[in-house]
Amino acid sequence: MTDLTTTVGPLRLKNPVLAASSEATMTEEGILGCLDAGAGAVVAKSVNESPAAARQLHIADYALLGATGEPVPWPHRTGGETLLCRSGLAPLEGWLAMLERTQVYARGLGAHVIGSITVAEPGPAADLAREMAREMARVVPAVEVNVGAPHGREAGAVRQVTGPETVARYTRAVRDAVDVPLIVKLPAQTDSPRALAAAARDAGADVIAMIGRFNGFWPDPVTSEPVLGSWGAVGGPAMLPVSLYWVSKTFAADRRTPLIGTNGARTAADVARFLLSGARAVELASVVLLHGPGVLGDLVRDLDEVLAAGGHTRVADAVGAAVDRSRAYADIPPRDRPPRPWED
Ligand SMILES: Cc1cc2nc3c(=O)[nH]c(=O)nc-3n(C[C@H](O)[C@H](O)[C@H](O)COP(=O)(O)O)c2cc1C
Repeated sequence: MTDLTTTVGPLRLKNPVLAASSEATMTEEGILGCLDAGAGAVVAKSVNESPAAARQLHIADYALLGATGEPVPWPHRTGGETLLCRSGLAPLEGWLAMLERTQVYARGLGAHVIGSITVAEPGPAADLAREMAREMARVVPAVEVNVGAPHGREAGAVRQVTGPETVARYTRAVRDAVDVPLIVKLPAQTDSPRALAAAARDAGADVIAMIGRFNGFWPDPVTSEPVLGSWGAVGGPAMLPVSLYWVSKTFAADRRTPLIGTNGARTAADVARFLLSGARAVELASVVLLHGPGVLGDLVRDLDEVLAAGGHTRVADAVGAAVDRSRAYADIPPRDRPPRPWED
C-alpha cells in the first residue's frame, strides 16, 4: 500500500488525482460524480464576470481525433483519442451556492472542491475570487485562476496571458483579494512557462498548475473543412512530454513552489510521470470526458500499484525523482562514434 496523501502547499489532499476544470465539473451532478469516484479534489468549471464568456458555451463544440487524425464520432470513442474543442465558461447564476453545497459534500469524503476563474480583467477576477473565498473555506477552500485559456486567442470573453509582467499583475490582484490558497494555472503557449511560474510565485501564488492546452487547427484533407469549422484548443497523450518538460524544468529551478501537473495524463502511469517530474498532484479533464468520472477511482487504485512497483511508499518520495536522475547535455559523456539506432 502506498501512502497516496499529498501536500500541495497549503492544501492537504487524500490523493493526487484531481478532476480538472471542464464540462465534466460544470454541474453539481458532475462534481459529485468525481467526488464519489474518489478524486482528491475537484476543480469546478471556470466562471468569470463576463456574460459573453458564458454565452461562448453556446458555440462550444468537441471533436475527437483518432490515432491517425481522423475524426471519431463520440459514440465510437475508445478513450485514446485527442480532444479538439471550442469551450466557454459556466454561467455565474447560482454558481457560488452550488460550490458551497458540493464543498460541504466533499468535506465528508475528505476531499475538496476548488473554485476556478478563467480571467477576463484582473479587477473583476479578484472580486469574484473574494466572493468565492468568503468566510474562508465556507464556499471553496482554494481558488484556481486560469490566466492562460487557449480560447483567449479567439474570443475576447477570456484572456490568454503569456507575459510574466501580466501574469504577475493578475496574480497580485487576486492575491490581494483572498487569503485562501491561490493556484495560478499557466498557459502552454508562451516562451517559457517556467518564467511565468516564477512571476506568479513572486506575485503571491501558493501553487502553480501547468500547463494549459495548446491552440490547435485540424483541416480535413478531403473536404478542406477545418474540424469544428474553426480554430480550437487541443490536448492529448502527444502533449504529455511537453507538459512534463515544463513541470520538470520548473521543479528543477525552484523546488519550493508546489506544482500541479495538467495536460496529457490519461493513465495512472501518466499521473506517476507527472509526480516523478516534480508535480505534487495532477489535474485530468479529457480522460473524465472520455470515460466518465468513475475513471478517477480507477486511476487512484492503479496509482497505488504503479508507485509501489516503482519502489515508492509515499507520493512525496516520487515527487521529482526523475528530475534528480536527469543530466544536463553537457554532463553526458560522448561515445566514440555517434549512435545510428535507425540502421541497426
Ligand atoms: C472541454 C474542456 C473544457 C475545459 N474548460 C476549462 C475551464 O473552464 N477552465 C480551466 O481552467 N481549464 C479548462 N480546461 C482545461 C483542463 O482543465 C485541463 O487543464 C486540460 O484539459 C489538460 O488536461 P487533460 O489532458 O487531462 O485534458 C478544459 C479542458 C477541456 C478539454
